[in-house]
Amino acid sequence: MASKLIAPSVLAADFANLQRDIELINNSEADWFHIDIMDGVFVPNISFGMPVLKAISKHATKTIDVHLMIVDPDRYIKTFAELGSNVLTVHYEACTHLHRTLQAIKAEGMQAGVALNPHTNVNVLEDTIQDIDLVCIMSVNPGFGGQSFIENTYNKVKQLKELIIRKGANTKIEIDGGVTNKNAKALVDAGADVLVAGSYVFKSETPTETIKGLKALANT
Ligand code: DX5
Ligand code: ZN
Repeated sequence: MASKLIAPSVLAADFANLQRDIELINNSEADWFHIDIMDGVFVPNISFGMPVLKAISKHATKTIDVHLMIVDPDRYIKTFAELGSNVLTVHYEACTHLHRTLQAIKAEGMQAGVALNPHTNVNVLEDTIQDIDLVCIMSVNPGFGGQSFIENTYNKVKQLKELIIRKGANTKIEIDGGVTNKNAKALVDAGADVLVAGSYVFKSETPTETIKGLKALANT
């Protein structure tokens, strides 16, 4: 079985010591950098934008997984490719022409991801799943780090896994929000491939060890 991936969320890093925290991820057992871009419209918060991502890309040595929590993401696909994104995830709820958006992301050489809010059923991806490299199941309402995990997520992961198998798709399942050592194993058992963790990693005493622990839990 392919190794399960850990993606620390830079949203919970110390922005005054960003290079230090990027190097911490580089030198850890983490697999991806998870980068949350919020516009204050799609979600009730603004995180950071292009200049910060550019600075992160300069130092990051691992896959850059960008999670766009913005309206009308099509306008910025090319820009995010130029800034070094390897995976670009848009929200289902923000895309009127999702199929077109997915093709545009791939045309820029990135993997195409779709994020689903907690209220969105996985069945809405029935007709696009074969075109999607990654589905990000939101296990909190997007907008903030440090929220508590929504338990219904396990059902959604199982339903999505069934859909992927039934359609013969090659889509990874990512979980985003409230991931800790308490739910990591159960999420992987339900079908998750990538675990995003922000506060759990960066608010811990020893983030490198916390990442190592999550990686081990996800791969037992
Ligand atoms: C929430 C973001 C998450 C967030 C996760 O809107 O998409 O990626 O950084 O943070 P934690 O792990 O603290 O819930
Ligand atoms: Zn995210």
